[in-house]
Amino acid sequence: MSPRVVLVGPMGAGKTTVARLLADAWGVTARDTDADIEAAVGRSIPDLFIESGEAEFRRLEKSAVAAALSEHDGVLALGGGAVLDPETRERLAGHRVVFLRVGLADAVKRVGLGSSRPLLLGNVRGRIKALLDERTPIYESVAGLVVETDGRTPEDVAREVLAAL
Ligand code: S3P
Repeated sequence: MSPRVVLVGPMGAGKTTVARLLADAWGVTARDTDADIEAAVGRSIPDLFIESGEAEFRRLEKSAVAAALSEHDGVLALGGGAVLDPETRERLAGHRVVFLRVGLADAVKRVGLGSSRPLLLGNVRGRIKALLDERTPIYESVAGLVVETDGRTPEDVAREVLAAL
């Protein structure tokens, strides 16, 4: 079993929303590794970061991604940092991966300056900029398709993915 498509990209790219729209269009289910982790540990991602640290979150994320890639045949959205793990990147090589690209201004607008995402606390704009600079080449390296999301609705983005696949 293999997901029909795997969405990667930074926070604020719209992965979760676009995944639902694609899944509805195809009549399959959408899965999200952040939600899988929260269900597995019974805690929110911010609580997990605070109580157990980022390294523990990344360990859980790596196995959540591996499990979802082998179990799920719908649409899969990965947490924005999942591609940092080299084994995860190798696993993705066998899958149809779409990078939802987003620029700094739109990412900040969508995430919101008051975001509770642990990696952004204190300085949403600065942290998103650093994450985009560091990760954009990684998303590009794992994706077979890159879709621009700046200034576009999730419906419009989903339409482009549907037309391209
Ligand atoms: C993270 C992105 C988040 C979540 C965690 C870490 C990251 O997921 O996994 O807060 O490292 O970019 P989304 O991309 O779904 O917001």
